[in-house]
Amino acid sequence: MNKDVIIALDFSSAQETLDFLDKFPDGKKPFVKIGMELFYSQGPDIVRRVKQRGHKIFLDLKLCDIPNTVKKAMKALSGLGVDMTNLHAFGTKAMMEAAVEGLTRPDGTRPMLLAVTQLTSTTQEAMREELMIDADMPEVVARYALNARDAGLDGVVCSPLEAAKVKLTCGIDFATVTPGIRFADSAADDQRRVMTPARAREAGSDFLVVGRPITAAPDPVKAYERCIAEFLVK
Ligand code: C5P
Repeated sequence: MNKDVIIALDFSSAQETLDFLDKFPDGKKPFVKIGMELFYSQGPDIVRRVKQRGHKIFLDLKLCDIPNTVKKAMKALSGLGVDMTNLHAFGTKAMMEAAVEGLTRPDGTRPMLLAVTQLTSTTQEAMREELMIDADMPEVVARYALNARDAGLDGVVCSPLEAAKVKLTCGIDFATVTPGIRFADSAADDQRRVMTPARAREAGSDFLVVGRPITAAPDPVKAYERCIAEFLVK
């Protein structure tokens, strides 16, 4: 699997986003993540504009609805030419299978499809009390990951702390995309459980999702290159 670092474009306007991408010299086109804030405020046009500049795009919209609706929504996202997108495994295998069908283009190709198992903001207590799920969190994450693999998905978004267990449960080729990454000498911000790029690699991460350590750095290009060097070079 081609490992890579994905920059989270957590900006609120198209201008801010494009100004940030302009900092990267010609020929350097990082893999980027567009999330709900940017997509819902700017619409599909922001995806087209970033794609036109030659970047790979992870469209992080975490779909969850009845199978037919998700299938049609995925078809629309696939038409935007994104490289990776996601949904909630909570929607069941039937929904995930429909999503794969919707994403698949007439030529048989499709973007990578990942599942969110349990949000990292969900606690064991909330899961038991509010969602009425009694199993332990690691067990729930592993089962949802297996459901995703069985439905034909390519991997999960998870904490780097869960990556090894996901690989053990679902196999080495099942992709792990992990946020919560910090350099050894940078602030954790609001992330609770963080890992350095090098540790995340050792833990089994295939793709790092990195926001503020790059976007808020005094020199974002240098921070991106440092992240790549620590993650990809042993
Ligand atoms: O700035 P930072 O590196 O914390 O950004 C991480 C990115 O990954 C953000 O876009 C955040 O929404 C996303 N994310 C996360 N934790 C998850 C899922 C997604 O931090 N469990």
